[in-house]
Amino acid sequence: MLDHLGNLERTHYCGDLRTDHVGQTVTLMGWVNGRRDHGPLTFVDLRDREGFVQVVLNEERAGGDAHQRGKTIRNEYVICVRGTVVRRSEETINPKIPTGEIEVHVTEMYVLNDAKTTPIPLNDDKGAPAAEDTRLKYRYLDLRRPSMQANIRLRHKMTSTIRSYMDGQGFLEIETPMLIRSTPEGARDFIVPSRLHAGEFYALPQSPQLFKQLLMIAGFDRYFQIARCFRDEDLRADRQPEFTQLDVEMSFPRMETVFQVMEGLVVELCALKNIPVTLPLPRMTYDEAMRRYGSDKPDTRFGMELVDLTETVRGSDFIPYQKALESNGQVKAIVAKGKADYARKTLDDFTDWLRKDFKAGGLGYAKVLAEGVSSPLTKGVGEELMAKIVAATGAETGDMVFIVAGSAAVVAAALSALRLEIGKREKLYDPNQFNFLWVTEFPMFEYHEEDNRWYAMHHPFTSPRDEDLERFAGENPDLGGVRAKAYDLVLNGVEIGGGSIRIHRQDIQQQIFRILGFTDEDARRRFGFFMDALSYGTPPHGGIALGLDRLVMLFSGESSIRDVMAFPKTASASDLMCESPGPVDDYQLKELRLKIVT
Ligand code: AMO
Repeated sequence: MLDHLGNLERTHYCGDLRTDHVGQTVTLMGWVNGRRDHGPLTFVDLRDREGFVQVVLNEERAGGDAHQRGKTIRNEYVICVRGTVVRRSEETINPKIPTGEIEVHVTEMYVLNDAKTTPIPLNDDKGAPAAEDTRLKYRYLDLRRPSMQANIRLRHKMTSTIRSYMDGQGFLEIETPMLIRSTPEGARDFIVPSRLHAGEFYALPQSPQLFKQLLMIAGFDRYFQIARCFRDEDLRADRQPEFTQLDVEMSFPRMETVFQVMEGLVVELCALKNIPVTLPLPRMTYDEAMRRYGSDKPDTRFGMELVDLTETVRGSDFIPYQKALESNGQVKAIVAKGKADYARKTLDDFTDWLRKDFKAGGLGYAKVLAEGVSSPLTKGVGEELMAKIVAATGAETGDMVFIVAGSAAVVAAALSALRLEIGKREKLYDPNQFNFLWVTEFPMFEYHEEDNRWYAMHHPFTSPRDEDLERFAGENPDLGGVRAKAYDLVLNGVEIGGGSIRIHRQDIQQQIFRILGFTDEDARRRFGFFMDALSYGTPPHGGIALGLDRLVMLFSGESSIRDVMAFPKTASASDLMCESPGPVDDYQLKELRLKIVT
C-alpha cells in the first residue's frame, strides 16, 4: 500500500546533511539507492539530486510498521523518512561520501511510490552502465545517475554564468523566431509544412544569423541569445540535429572587441571548473594552422607537427610523388617519437583507414633504427632520398616517420587525423589541460569540385578583409586569395565557436551573392527582406556563436555531446524514448495537403 504525500514537507536534501545537523529532526524524500538488511536493523541509502545519505530503520525506534515496511522497499522506490541526524561511530564512518560521518535514525517512514526493476543499473561504479541505445530509451533513468546529474548541473551553471556575464557587458537577451524562411547556411534545413498556407513551408533556424544582424540594424547594439539551432546534417559525437548556441552580435566592433568580450567569458566559465587560463588567448592564422597541423582546429596540446617534404622530394622519379607534384599537390610527413616499433598490423590498419576515410593514396612509413632506416619506400625513392627525407623530418633513432603524398586537402586531412590518433593512443597530452586557440584569417571562399562553384567558407554574410575587396573585382577575380574577417574559437582540437565581422553594405552583399552563384532574382527571392534592410542605415557589426553543447562536453570531460544534453538524439537522428520521428495521422496530412510518396 502506498502513502500519500499529504502534509509531509521536506526539510533537507539528503546529500546536504553534515555533522552540523547532528541532533536535528529532518524530513527527507528521495529514491532508494540500495538496502541492506541486518535483522533488526535495515540500512537504506536514500538518494536525491544532492547526493546520498544512509538512513537506519531500527525495530524499536521506527514506530508502527515502518520497520516491517522497510524490508519491503526496493531500489528506486520513492520514500519519505523522518528521523534524527546522528554522528556515526568512528569505525562506521565512510570517508568516500560527503555525508559519510552521519546517518539518519528513522522514526517514521512513508512509501510514496514503488518502482519496477530498472532496465539499466543506476550507479556509476563502472562508468556508463549500459549500451547507449538502452540509456537513451530510458533516458529519465539514465539521467538519475550521478555523473549525468553532474553534467546537466554543470550545463545549468555555465548558462547562468553566460547570462549574468553577458548582461554585465550590456548585451540584451532577445528571442528570435523558430519558424522562419529557409536560408542556407551550409547544412540542410528542417522544414515545417504550413496548414494556413498549403504547399508552403517554414524552416527551423540553422542559427539566428539573419535575425541577429537585423537586430543590429534595429539599433539594439549588443544582443545575445542561448539559441536552439537545427541542422539536418550527418551526425557525429560532437554534432546533433538540434543543438544550442550562445549567439552574440554587436554593433561597431573591431575583431578585437569580439575577442575581448568572449575572452572575458572564457575566464568566467573556466573559473567554474578551476581551469587555468591566461589572456589574451593564443591566435593562429588559418594558413599557419593548416601548414603546421593540417587542420583549421588544431589540438595544440601536443607537437608532432607536419613537415613539408615537397621540396625535398622534388625531382624524384618515384611515381606517387611525381604525380602529387604534377597536380600541384604536396608531400608531407609527421614523426611519431619512439614508435619505430609499431607492428605491421598497426601500420596496415592506419593505411587502410586513411585510404578509406581520407582518400589517401597510401601511407608511407620509415622506421629509424640504430642500424639504419627501414622502409618499404626505399625501393622506390632510393637510399639517398630516403636519408634526406629522414633528415628533413628531424627523426631520430627509434622514431617512425609517416609520409602522405597527394592534393593539399588529402595530405592535410590524412596526416592531421593520423596525428590525432597517435596523440590519443600514445597519450601525448594531458586530458586535463585546456588549450584555447583563436584561428583567424579564414579564406572567404572555398571551391567545390563536385559542382564547380564557390561557396562561402563561413557564411555568405561574412565580410571579406577591406584590403581584399579588390581581389574579387575585374575580369579574373582571385577568389581563392580573398581572406575573410572570420574567426573560430578552438578548444583542444574541437571547434567551439565561429563568427565574423559582417558585410554591412548592400552593394558588397549583392556582389558576394553573385560570386556564390545566386542570380539577382534568386537573391531577391530568398533574401529580399534582408537586402532591403541593409539599405536603411546598417551599422558595421559582427559577432560569434559558441556551441554550448561542445563547451559543456569538454568542460565535463565527456567525449560526446549526447552526454551533456538531457534528451539527445541518436547518431541516426532518432529519439529512442519518444520514438520520433514517427508517422502522423492521415487527417493531419490531409489538413496540410501533403501526400507521402514512397
Ligand atoms: P557555426 O555554424 O560555426 O556559426 O556554428 C557555431 C558553433 O556551433 C556549434 N555547432 C554545433 N554543435 C552541435 N551540433 C551541431 N550540429 C553543430 N553545428 C555547429 C559549433 C560551432 O562552432 N551563425 C554562425 C555564427 C556567427 O557567424 O556568428 C554560426 O552558426 O561549436
